[in-house]
Amino acid sequence: MSPETDRTAGDAAAQGRLLTLTAGNPAAGGTFVARHEGRVVFVRGTTPGETVTARLLEDPKEAADARFWRAETIDVLEAGVDRVPSVWDEAGIDGVGGAEWAHIALPAQRRIASEVMQELLQRAGVRSYPLEEVQVEPAPHDLDGLGWRTRVRFAVDEDGRVGMRGWRSHDVRGVGENPLAARAIRELPLEDWTAPAGTEAIDVVAPSTGPVSVVLIGRELDPASVEVPAAWGEADVAVRTARGLQPLRGDGSVRERVGERLFTVGATGFWQVHRRAAELLSEVVTAELRPAEPRSVWDLYGGVGLFAAAAAELVGPEGSVQSVEGNRRASQQAAENLADLPQVSTATADVIDWVRARRGGVDAVVLDPPRAGAGAELMGLLAAAVRRRIVYVSCEPSTLARDLAVAEKAGWRITDLRAFDLFPHTHHMESVTVLERAEA
Ligand SMILES: C[S@@+](CC[C@H](N)C(=O)[O-])C[C@H]1O[C@@H](n2cnc3c(N)ncnc32)[C@H](O)[C@@H]1O
Repeated sequence: MSPETDRTAGDAAAQGRLLTLTAGNPAAGGTFVARHEGRVVFVRGTTPGETVTARLLEDPKEAADARFWRAETIDVLEAGVDRVPSVWDEAGIDGVGGAEWAHIALPAQRRIASEVMQELLQRAGVRSYPLEEVQVEPAPHDLDGLGWRTRVRFAVDEDGRVGMRGWRSHDVRGVGENPLAARAIRELPLEDWTAPAGTEAIDVVAPSTGPVSVVLIGRELDPASVEVPAAWGEADVAVRTARGLQPLRGDGSVRERVGERLFTVGATGFWQVHRRAAELLSEVVTAELRPAEPRSVWDLYGGVGLFAAAAAELVGPEGSVQSVEGNRRASQQAAENLADLPQVSTATADVIDWVRARRGGVDAVVLDPPRAGAGAELMGLLAAAVRRRIVYVSCEPSTLARDLAVAEKAGWRITDLRAFDLFPHTHHMESVTVLERAEA
């Protein structure tokens, strides 16, 4: 151990802030727990069981009083068994963000994510489901966790250079091969191009059908200043300013296919990111709703209608599906996407306001909230209003765990919980949980 790296707490704060740490269990946020003189340190860029030199991230003035510290790996002293050469050289410490587990073997990533999920559920007090059965599954046919990302937001620096933000900084850095991105995104020559003045970010989408879509985003960006490079081929191009979205080529939206159905989605609107996610989640939600034999379903946080379409098949033409979505454009697109299904109605509304205003119940609910989760009030309302099943799709296990604990206290139990690795090489995960009335 070098004297450089073995410092006392006070020294660490004052001099160089380097620590020698041995990483243990995973923690939320993609970090691992280490200890330094009794204090917990959440370390990024490491793997369980390995010893690293880590740079302390706390402000030196505040470090001595902080309850825990955060640190990032700058050198590996003794590699853990899960460490592999990173799949993305430009990612990680001092590189771009968005692939914080690129140095961990893919099966180990899933094992670690499973442990994180189990721990969060246990800490939240979830009791109705055997936690050891919660195991993160790969997306079908996803062997290497590469080429899955169909939506990428690029950053642009003041000189118009396109890249991505650093892991922990605002600097814009080159992305290199960008191996997590879908091929159509990788092949778009963005790094050789200079964005027009006023461009703050660029959203690129590789939809399942049709050309790649490029949206230049900048509050004050002048659409007339955008010259579409010939090297972008057939790409659709739009500009999003403070005044809204202005298509330059195409109609400002993309088409996504799930089974036989096409969904129109705004070029900067929400759609599941992994190229297999929409189909997989749609199948899982259908399979989880079916045993309830619902005649009526609410699809809350419905987006452009992905799960409403699945529910409509199940309830049939005599049933009813109500999709509720807060974003006006997405909600309009849901209405258009599902116009051939008379059993589906769409509402543009805040989910809690909408559910609060309901009189009478519903057979089953699908809810797919953003990372903040549903929250205690909505879970309470649903616990009272839903007759048979709640299918909760979540991209954030910490808020899911909190919400499931509320549902259990309100008399519901978990009857299935499936987790999926829909964000390989990152710590994020997706899950589908089924709740039924405990007395049922
Ligand atoms: C995770 S996305 C799910 C969309 C859809 N279920 C899908 O899979 O394509 C969450 C959606 O909830 C919407 N949303 C967020 N907060 C909302 C709220 N308070 N009320 C209604 N919709 C909301 C967002 O606009 C977004 O479309």
